Amino acid sequence: KRPIILDCDPGVDDAYAIMLAHSNEGFDIRAITPVAGNVEFKHTSRNALDLADMLGIDTRVAKGADRPLIIELQTAGEIHGGNGMAGYTLPMAKREFDEMKAWDVIYEEARKFKGELEIVAVGPLTNVAIAILKYGDLKDYVKRIVIMGGSATVGNHSQYGEFNIWVDPHAAEIVFHSGIPVTMFGLNATRQSALTSEEMYAMSDMETSVQDLLKGINHYVFGLRGGKDWGGTITLHDAITVGYLIDESLAETRKAYVTCEMTGRNTYGQTVTDFKGLCGKEPNVDVAMVTHVEVFRNMLKGMLEFYKAN
Ligand code: BDR
Ligand code: CA
Repeated sequence: KRPIILDCDPGVDDAYAIMLAHSNEGFDIRAITPVAGNVEFKHTSRNALDLADMLGIDTRVAKGADRPLIIELQTAGEIHGGNGMAGYTLPMAKREFDEMKAWDVIYEEARKFKGELEIVAVGPLTNVAIAILKYGDLKDYVKRIVIMGGSATVGNHSQYGEFNIWVDPHAAEIVFHSGIPVTMFGLNATRQSALTSEEMYAMSDMETSVQDLLKGINHYVFGLRGGKDWGGTITLHDAITVGYLIDESLAETRKAYVTCEMTGRNTYGQTVTDFKGLCGKEPNVDVAMVTHVEVFRNMLKGMLEFYKAN
C-alpha cells in the first residue's frame, strides 16, 4: 500500500477528499493533519478527528497550526458553514488526537518510509511549511507533495487569489521552493471537473453509510444557492486532487516555475506560473492544466460503492 498523509481543513470538499482516499484500498493513510483555513482550527481539527472516527479510518489525527505563519487567519465559513461541515453535526469521536504535532508526525512518517511518503495537502500550507522549516532533511524523505491550491488563471477569493494560497501565501512560497517535487491542482484545472447539482444529489440519494453526511452537505451547499433546482455546478477541488493520486490519467500537467505573490496590490496570493522560463528559473512545480471529469466521476462511483458495502 502507498503511504500518504492527508493535510486538510475540513471543509466540505475536504470531507469528500478524505472519503475518496479512504475508499481507495491502495492507500495506507498514515495521518490526517488538520490546519486552520475554511473555518477556525477548533472546528477543522474536530472535524478531522470526528470524520476519521465516523468513517473508521485507522490513522493518527495530529493537530497542526491554528493560524497562518505570519498573517492573521481569514476563514470561509460562508461557503462551508460555521462549523466547516455545512452545519452537519458529526458524531463525537471516541478516539483522541495524536500526542504529537502535525509537523512532527509528517517528519516521523516520512522517515519511516524512506522517500515513499506522499503528502496530499488540500488546505492552507502552514503545517507542511512548518515541517519543511523545522526539518531541513525532510526533502530527502518525501516523494512528492500534491496540493490543491492556486491557479494558473484567475482566483476565487480575490481576482487572482485562490483561497488556500491566499490564506497563507508565505507557507505556499516555502513549499514551492522546498526542493520536494510539487504538483499543483489549481482552480484552472479543478473547475474543469465541476459536477452538476443533479450529480451531487444522485450521490446523496444513494443508500450508503455516509448518506446522512452527504445529504447534510448537499442541503446546505445547494440551500445557499437557491435549492435543489439550482442549475449551477459544484467543484470538489480537494477530492479531485486526491483523485490524481489514485489515477494520474485524471489530469494533464505542465512544468512551470511557480512563485507566490505576497505584496501585489491587486494580485496578492496569486500563484504566478511561468511556463515559458521567462524569468530564467528552472521549473519547480507540475501544474495541472486539464482534468477529465469522466475519470473523476468514475472514482466517485467507486467511492459510493465502497460506502455501500462498508
Ligand atoms: C479550496 O479552498 C477551500 O475552501 C476548499 O476546501 C478548497 O481546498 C478551494 O479554493
Ligand atoms: Ca480544503
